Amino acid sequence: MPKVTYVDHEGRASAVEVELGDNVMHGAVYNGIDGITGECGGGLSCATCHCYVDEDWVETVGGPSSQAEEELLEAVAAELRPGSRLCCQIEMTPALDGLVVHMPEHQF
Ligand code: FES
Repeated sequence: MPKVTYVDHEGRASAVEVELGDNVMHGAVYNGIDGITGECGGGLSCATCHCYVDEDWVETVGGPSSQAEEELLEAVAAELRPGSRLCCQIEMTPALDGLVVHMPEHQF
């Protein structure tokens, strides 16, 4: 299974396996990683799954996957950065094995 490394705002990293076809929000929530809340369960309505895609991965992951994600990104609690994504919208593919995402200090 591909791995994703989640780095919290203090630099602590946790690497976990995320099933192909699942999303990066579930990877955090199912593995008990603090920092990604995913309150709406991936329904693209809460903005509590905000993450910063590591700059080495921004090109591979790409920008928001829909206009809805782009609009909801305006509602995140922490500052927006170039790599900001809602990680429930990042689907695991073989190309994302080794992905690194950083988590904001807060989601609310
Ligand atoms: S989990 Fe709610 S928008 Fe991503």
